[in-house]
Amino acid sequence: MQASTKQESEGLRPDSAVLVLFGASGDLAKRKLIPGLYHLYRAGLMPEKFRIIGSAPAGIAMDADGFVEMARTSVATFGRREGAGSDFEEFAKSLSYCSASTPDFSGLASAVQDAREETGAKAAVFYLAVPPPAFVPVITALGASGLAKGSRLIIEKPFGYDLKSAKELNRAIHGAFSEDEVYRIDHFLGKEAVQNILALRFANGIFEPAWNRSFLEYVQLDVPETLTIEGRGAFYEETGAYRDMIVTHLLQVLGFLAMEPPGRLDARSLNAAKNHVFAALRPLTKEDVVFGQYEGYLQEPGVAAGSRTETLVAARVWIDNDRWSGVPFFLRTGKAMGAEKSVATLGFRVPDLGRFEGAKVPDRGGACNQLVLDLGDPGSIEVSFLAKTPGVTMDVAAAELTFSYAESFNMRYELAAYERLLHDALLGDRTLFNAAEGIERLWEASAPLLEDPPRPITYAKGSFGPGEVNDLIDPYAWKLG
Ligand code: BG6
Repeated sequence: MQASTKQESEGLRPDSAVLVLFGASGDLAKRKLIPGLYHLYRAGLMPEKFRIIGSAPAGIAMDADGFVEMARTSVATFGRREGAGSDFEEFAKSLSYCSASTPDFSGLASAVQDAREETGAKAAVFYLAVPPPAFVPVITALGASGLAKGSRLIIEKPFGYDLKSAKELNRAIHGAFSEDEVYRIDHFLGKEAVQNILALRFANGIFEPAWNRSFLEYVQLDVPETLTIEGRGAFYEETGAYRDMIVTHLLQVLGFLAMEPPGRLDARSLNAAKNHVFAALRPLTKEDVVFGQYEGYLQEPGVAAGSRTETLVAARVWIDNDRWSGVPFFLRTGKAMGAEKSVATLGFRVPDLGRFEGAKVPDRGGACNQLVLDLGDPGSIEVSFLAKTPGVTMDVAAAELTFSYAESFNMRYELAAYERLLHDALLGDRTLFNAAEGIERLWEASAPLLEDPPRPITYAKGSFGPGEVNDLIDPYAWKLG
């Protein structure tokens, strides 16, 4: 049975596939991947014939029944509104389990071979939902066992820790897979509202002609989060907000915001367009960056005494090319902040308002000349501008035009970010995935900052960061907070 969310077009069903989920009992599999695959199944977007083989090292207590039970619970707990429906039993027939410890993947190789024969699948797809230290051993074992041949690899961040480790990881990946078999996930790029940046810019004559330094004075990308590090102290101490969010998600979204029009909307053109932006990114230094740490972080379990790990970053980023020269891009993200949002704001150059002398004009007239993209799921777009207030004076006041995804479109076919990207990987479509070159360049541009970072400044939980974050953006102001 297919749910009512089934999209009626042909060609959306991938060919038969065998998907191996490394890290099957981990958090990502439970929260996102298994519920996402189940939703794709209900929406008629999984292949007609498929197998999902859960896998984890032999030391993890799990078997086929345990994997099905875990899948049932994760769909019920983290799945979308529909929960685990009666068709879960059908879906569960496609689930199996095979433990596999590096370096010997021979048992897994025969399980994959059997599943291929049953389904007729040409491709095996390997999803690495495992802790970073396991990346290279698993990839190497996939290569050595012959499993990598003709297969696809889906891999999650962190893509290294710095330029050197990113290059090492890419070398290991390329030892087993060719670049066009690699699907590096950044789930922000799977969000509808982020993809809509491309539609907004390149399907309209209204916005793109003004999308440059002649018309824009600054751009902000603000992604505050209300959650703390939620007990993930040990992980976060190694990572920090810059590596967790900026070098990954925010700079990738910046790539979409700042790119030149790509020739086509395919993997090659989009990655080339992003790489063009990344190549022009001025290397970041501490003069353009504020690090923050929320009050109480030092008391979190797993956090080192006196830790200088940042839980918030605000950065002023410059793209030294013809389109953006002189236009600052302000990025901000952090944990335990005053809102859970993801907002890009484009600030237009304000005309001379002197001619409105004697009339009432809002203090920060400039804050009204903005295009605001709420990149949440589902997102919205707002144009803010000044309009004459009714009456005999020429007073002007802030006014808004708003487009809301949820109110304007039927959201029936909407896919959550992971669902969209899993489906693309099964189809063999790499358009929304990241390439090695761009990732290495972002680490290269981050090196001066990471080698000599600023000392984090304490900020109150529930705030928008320390005052220095506002100084950084002066004379403008953050749209949020
Ligand atoms: C993850 C980060 O990649 O993205 C998390 O590791 C962060 O720290 C999360 O909370 C944010 O994603 P989303 O989709 O919830 O905005």
